[in-house]
Amino acid sequence: MLAKIDRKNISKKFAIFNSLLKKKKLVYLDNAATTQKPNKVINSIKEYYSNINSNVHRGAYYLSNKATEKLEYSRVKIKNFINAKYSHEIIFTSGATESINLIANSISSLIKEKDEIIIPYSEHHSNIIPWQILCKKKKALLKIIPIDYNGNLKLDYFKSFISNKTKLISLSHVSNALGVINPINDIIDEAKKYNTLVLIDGSQAISHIPINIQKINPDFYVFSIHKMYGPTGIGVLYGKEDILKLIPPYKYGGEMIDKVSFEETTYSNLPFKFEAGTPNIGGIISTIDAIAFIEKYNIKNIKTYEDKIINYAIKLFTSIKGIKIYGEEKNRSSIISFNIKKIHPFDVGKILDNFGVAVRTGNHCAQPIMDFFSIPGTIRISFAIYNTFEEIDYLYKIIIKIIKLIDRF
Ligand code: ALA
Repeated sequence: MLAKIDRKNISKKFAIFNSLLKKKKLVYLDNAATTQKPNKVINSIKEYYSNINSNVHRGAYYLSNKATEKLEYSRVKIKNFINAKYSHEIIFTSGATESINLIANSISSLIKEKDEIIIPYSEHHSNIIPWQILCKKKKALLKIIPIDYNGNLKLDYFKSFISNKTKLISLSHVSNALGVINPINDIIDEAKKYNTLVLIDGSQAISHIPINIQKINPDFYVFSIHKMYGPTGIGVLYGKEDILKLIPPYKYGGEMIDKVSFEETTYSNLPFKFEAGTPNIGGIISTIDAIAFIEKYNIKNIKTYEDKIINYAIKLFTSIKGIKIYGEEKNRSSIISFNIKKIHPFDVGKILDNFGVAVRTGNHCAQPIMDFFSIPGTIRISFAIYNTFEEIDYLYKIIIKIIKLIDRF
């Protein structure tokens, strides 16, 4: 049965919201960096280490079989959550960053001199640097999709320079710095005309927007579990079966092999070919509870709720003279990036912290877009299911106080 999104009830499920922090109630608005973890997720990790700790896919004994069964169930749960075709298309990594690095390394053999890779201007560093390095190594060209002053991709430019030389396009589903939802369907449609691979970084979408992978139809979709109420240190790489079969592994070691001799090694089947070494077993198992938490409220209802909060916040903030919001107002999800006139974003972050409000300030690991706007950084508030309209009112009042204070000088 679906549960109602009601803060009082939801708060009870998170230990962190049931105690005071520096004598203040926590107003947590840094969910784009990481979400808080429900008690069930924390308990699941404890349960693994207390009662079933053992390595996976290796032992013939009861505990190892149980841990393996649970880890593989987590894979199925993720497959179902994003509606992928097969669970072997779900690869466990250490985070979205590693998922992107994995692909940038493994597709290297498919990239030749003068080939092209395309990324937008507004990407996180983890979706810039791996491609920069790959292009340097292969003497390929990194092309950038420009953006307008609302943070929207300039699709006409993109369409004018994509060509048969374009081997891969990599872009975020939602920009972590601005919250703008990128037109991934248009990009994928265009890419298919040129047989170009598409990687979508879904880190800022996965717990906010319903994802139907078979409908979206990217070649790769990556995300981090810690941004969807699960623990840190686990990422997912979804890849289409045919392309994952084609590309080589990028990490070598235990569990990813078929046969090893000193002359030659053959690799295991999917997904294990990409999963060398012992994974974060307890964390992966606890992902079952993180997804169950989202499913309890239904991702569509979460989106509707978060959209209402974000629209409310934008309406309030745009009414304040001295605030500049970055990025398209309507086409956004769960993130608002803004600045207050005459005050550095870091200072605002410090003041908000004194009021118990946690936000991220700075360049959000997206320096090119900060340069585009000629700013050192922004104040970023980012939402999750437990945020409330009252918290936005509280933040609004603090901002008004800050502006009044600045105006006195
Ligand atoms: N990528 C995360 C963020 O945007 C950490 O804050």
